[in-house]
Amino acid sequence: MRQSDIRPTGVERTFGRDEIIVTKTDPQGRITYANDVFLRVSAYPEEEMVGQPHSMIRHPDMPRAVFKLLWDSLKDNREIFCYVVNLAGDGAHYWVLAHVTASVDAQGTLVGYHSNRRVPSSRALDEIRPLYRQLLAAEQGHSRPADAIAASSAMLANVLAARGQSYEEFIWTLAGAKVAA
Ligand SMILES: Cc1cc2nc3c(=O)[nH]c(=O)nc-3n(C[C@H](O)[C@H](O)[C@H](O)COP(=O)(O)O)c2cc1C
Repeated sequence: MRQSDIRPTGVERTFGRDEIIVTKTDPQGRITYANDVFLRVSAYPEEEMVGQPHSMIRHPDMPRAVFKLLWDSLKDNREIFCYVVNLAGDGAHYWVLAHVTASVDAQGTLVGYHSNRRVPSSRALDEIRPLYRQLLAAEQGHSRPADAIAASSAMLANVLAARGQSYEEFIWTLAGAKVAA
C-alpha cells in the first residue's frame, strides 16, 4: 500500500518507555534496517519497509520545516533530535522523540543514516502539538513546497526568538533536561 493511500484514522498508538524504534538507511535515505519495534508500531512487514524512504511513514500533520531542519543538520554532519508524528500502515499514528545521525566510516565517508526513537513525554507533546499546528497552518497558504517551507521555517525561527532559545535548547527544555546557559 502506498503511503498516500493510507487515511489517518485518528487512533493514537504508543510503545514502551523501555523500547527504542530503530531504522538505518543507505546514503540515499532508503531504509536498510528496521527493528522489530519499528515494524510492530508502524504496522508494516519488513519486506515492505526495506528499500523504501522514510516518507513511507510521513504523517500529513508534520510540518515540512521540521524535515528541512533534519536534512540540513544531517548534511552538515550534525545530529538532530526532533519530535515526529508518524503514520502507521493501518492509519494509526504514533509520536516519537527521534535522534537522527549520519553514520560515517573510519575515513569519514558517509555510509548512511540512523534514527533511534523513544516515547516522548506528554508534557513535551502538549507544547509540540500546537506548535506543529501553527507551522502547518503557515504552510497551507502556499502551493509551492519551497514557499511553504520558507513560511514555516520563518515562523519556527520567530517562535524560538520569542523564547530566547536555539532549536536545541528548545528541544531539551521540552525533554525535561537541564540546559547549560
Ligand atoms: C535516518 C532518518 C530517519 C527518518 N525518520 C523519519 C520518520 O520517522 N518519519 C518521517 O516522516 N520522516 C523521517 N525522515 C525524513 C524523511 O526522509 C523525509 O524527509 C520526510 O518523511 C518528509 O518527506 P517528504 O519530503 O516527501 O514530504 C527520516 C530521515 C532519515 C535520514
